[in-house]
Amino acid sequence: MDIRLLQPSDIPHVQQTNITNLPENYFCKYYMYHALSWPQLSYVAVDVSRPKKTPYDAPKIVGYVLAKMEEDPQDGIQHGHITSLSVMRTHRRLGLAEKLMRQSQRAMFETYNAVYVSLHVRVSNVAALALYRDTLGFKVGGIEAKYYADGEDAYSMRMDLDYLREEALDAEDSDEEDTTVGQDEGGEVGSNGKAGEGEDGVRKKKEKKRKVKVGRQLGVGELVERNAAQGNGTA
Ligand SMILES: CC(C)(COP(=O)(O)OP(=O)(O)OC[C@H]1O[C@@H](n2cnc3c(N)ncnc32)[C@H](O)[C@@H]1OP(=O)(O)O)[C@@H](O)C(=O)NCCC(=O)NCCS
Repeated sequence: MDIRLLQPSDIPHVQQTNITNLPENYFCKYYMYHALSWPQLSYVAVDVSRPKKTPYDAPKIVGYVLAKMEEDPQDGIQHGHITSLSVMRTHRRLGLAEKLMRQSQRAMFETYNAVYVSLHVRVSNVAALALYRDTLGFKVGGIEAKYYADGEDAYSMRMDLDYLREEALDAEDSDEEDTTVGQDEGGEVGSNGKAGEGEDGVRKKKEKKRKVKVGRQLGVGELVERNAAQGNGTA
C-alpha cells in the first residue's frame, strides 16, 4: 500500500471512492480547489499490490483524505480542516485512515503552522468516532444540530497539534546538540573561542521563522453539491 499526495489526475478516482463510501459528495471542482490551493494537505492510499499492465492503467485508489486550511478562521487561529475521509470496505481496519490523517495533520503543521485541526462527524458514525477520539486524540467541542442534509447532528471535533510542535522543538534541540559536538571537535577553547557562542560569550540560538501563504479566496462557495452545502466539509 502506498500513501502519497493527491494529484489532480487522481480526482475522478477519489470522487468514485467518496461516492461509494459517503453520502456527502462534491463537484470535481471542489476537489480541484483543495488540490490546487493546499497541495500539501490531501493524500491518497493506493493499492500497488497488483502491478499496472499498461502505463495508462488508473491507480487503484482505496482511500483518501481531503483537507484544507480554514481561510477565514472565526477564532483568528490558523487551523486546518478535514473536509472528507474514507477508505474502501475491502481495505478497512488496516490502519490506512489513521495514516492518512496523521500525514495530513503533519503537513498542516509543517507547511502552514496550523495550531489545530477540526472536523465534523455524524453522531451515529461509530467507526469514525473511534478513529478520531480514541486513536487520534480528537476532542468533541460541541454538537451542531441538523448539520447534515438529512437532518442528522454532527459532533464538531478538534485536535491540537502541540505534539508536533514539541516534536519539532525536540528535533531542533538534538540537532543543536549534534552541531555543538561537531564544532567542538578540534575547535578553539577558552573564553573567546567556545563553539556555538558569539563574541560576547552568549549562545546565539538560531531563530526559525516560517512564512506561509494560505489558500486564496477563489470564489468557490457554490462548488459544494447541494447535500453537502451546509457547513464547510463533512469529514
Ligand atoms: C471511518 C473509516 C475512514 C476508518 O478507516 P480505516 O482505514 O478502516 O481505519 P483504521 O484502520 O485506520 O482504524 C484505526 C482505528 O480506528 C478505530 N476504528 C476503525 N474502524 C472502526 C470500526 N468499524 N469500529 C470501531 N472502531 C473502528 C479503531 O480504533 C482502529 O484501530 P484498530 O484497528 O487498531 O482497532 C472507514 O470506516 C470509512 O471509510 N468509513 C466510511 C466513511 C466515513 O465514515 N468516513 C468518515 C466520515 S467523518
